[in-house]
Amino acid sequence: MSEAGEIRVDDSAGVRRIVFARPEKKNAFTSAMYAAFAEALAGADEAADVRVVTLEGAGNCFTAGNDLMDFASQPPRDPASAPVFKLLHGLVAFSKPLIAIVDGPAIGIGSTMLLHCDFVYASDKSRFAFPFVNLALVPEAASSVLLSERVGPARAYEWLLGGDPIDPTEAERAGLVTKVLPQAELAAFARAKAELIATKPPEAVRLTKKLIRDPKREAATAAIHREAAVFTERLTSDEAKAQFMAFLSRGKK
Ligand code: COA
Repeated sequence: MSEAGEIRVDDSAGVRRIVFARPEKKNAFTSAMYAAFAEALAGADEAADVRVVTLEGAGNCFTAGNDLMDFASQPPRDPASAPVFKLLHGLVAFSKPLIAIVDGPAIGIGSTMLLHCDFVYASDKSRFAFPFVNLALVPEAASSVLLSERVGPARAYEWLLGGDPIDPTEAERAGLVTKVLPQAELAAFARAKAELIATKPPEAVRLTKKLIRDPKREAATAAIHREAAVFTERLTSDEAKAQFMAFLSRGKK
């Protein structure tokens, strides 16, 4: 659990529910939240009675991505020890089905973490964005490799170099999202799916995911290392700092 309970974890019917719960900041991730998220995920891999994990955000928002104040004031410097990188490697290694339940904005890592999820259910009010270039940053979470594989190179270039918001219909058509549902139906649908998968023979489920994911794991891990070296350097560049300050001081002139 993060210091202020901003990552909530609850287990029932074989499903671990991980909730990003910092709604007053659109569930933007702090270092403490990454650490708690990584711990909850690793714990789920260990726990025999957890068969499936779901990820969701509180307050009609998935997550606004990394906290931009954190990026400005205490950027992660060490790819070997910073909690965000621990989480990213944890996502690559995770051995059980991972289901994202996306309502509202899923920005930055909110969109790139979906590439590590096996099912992505999204509401008709969801919206996705990879705004790295707009922030003078570069892609992370292996998205420089995985996005192109998932949605094809043409869209990956457009999304990663353009940085514009993507609506749920386009995300579904491109293959980033498994299924779009009316907002009022999303939670129940995803929960039923998670509980159903939790009843299936766990070893067959684990081995199936392993067969699908293993051929990609080495490439994803190498991409995370490559991206991290550039990303951490970019975070302290003048152009990135100017973009963070522009966001943090918007509307305060
Ligand atoms: N880091 C830090 N604070 C953030 C944040 C982030 N990534 N995203 C939102 N917040 C904060 C806002 O500063 C605001 O705080 P305040 O009430 O103290 O001013 C609060 O969350 C609500 O955000 P707001 O922008 O007013 O909500 P909105 O509904 O108009 O817009 C978003 C929501 C997510 C579209 C918008 O906040 C946004 O674009 N956030 C930045 C996303 C981003 O670039 N992430 C980094 C990816 S690498």
